[in-house]
Amino acid sequence: MTLEEIKEDALKRHIPIIMDDTLQVIINKMKDRKVEKILEIGTAVGYSAICFSKLLEDGGKIDTIERDEEKIKEAKENIKIAKNNIKINILEGDAVEILPILNEKYDMIFIDAAKGKYPFFLKESLRLLDDKGVIFADNILYKGYVMSDYNKHKQRTAVNHLREYIKLVTEDENLNTEILEVGDGLGITVKVKNQYK
Ligand SMILES: C[S@@+](CC[C@H](N)C(=O)[O-])C[C@H]1O[C@@H](n2cnc3c(N)ncnc32)[C@H](O)[C@@H]1O
Repeated sequence: MTLEEIKEDALKRHIPIIMDDTLQVIINKMKDRKVEKILEIGTAVGYSAICFSKLLEDGGKIDTIERDEEKIKEAKENIKIAKNNIKINILEGDAVEILPILNEKYDMIFIDAAKGKYPFFLKESLRLLDDKGVIFADNILYKGYVMSDYNKHKQRTAVNHLREYIKLVTEDENLNTEILEVGDGLGITVKVKNQYK
């Protein structure tokens, strides 16, 4: 399949993939940076990983974590069309277990998995982020629930965890964060000083 076909197929099957405007913001933010290693939390069928492969220098790599076996199978097939000379490793399993055993530094981290785990993903991402790296967190405004006083939804736990994520990244003086209303909300965080060895 081509990239466009992978995207159309995912949308038809209601698999949530990165939105065009969110992708464009990430591309613009990263285009003048040296990007050798990307970590993605939430592969789905590999669409965003294939898009991100274009941001990488030759020889670069993407580690992307997914726990759903069916999606892993599809992603393995799809990532064959990623940019040449880029390695995409699918780390199979729950990110809650995989992240703590990773030990390298990444230039970009894309958080796009279970919303209830965003604060945990943040903690691990700060440890794994290169000093000059950028963390993107997708769906951070979750259909507007996060910024409203909406409190009775069955997704209340997820909303509370997203609120906690936003509090952590905006109140920490060692971090600089923008929250953009693109797509379903995008958090962009960089380190001011490196406190997260
Ligand atoms: C929004 S989709 C990812 C979309 C993909 N990044 C894209 O834009 O093409 C979220 C994916 O994260 C996976 N996921 C959710 N929680 C996870 C966890 N704790 N560990 C690993 N994968 C997880 C889901 O199975 C799902 O496929």
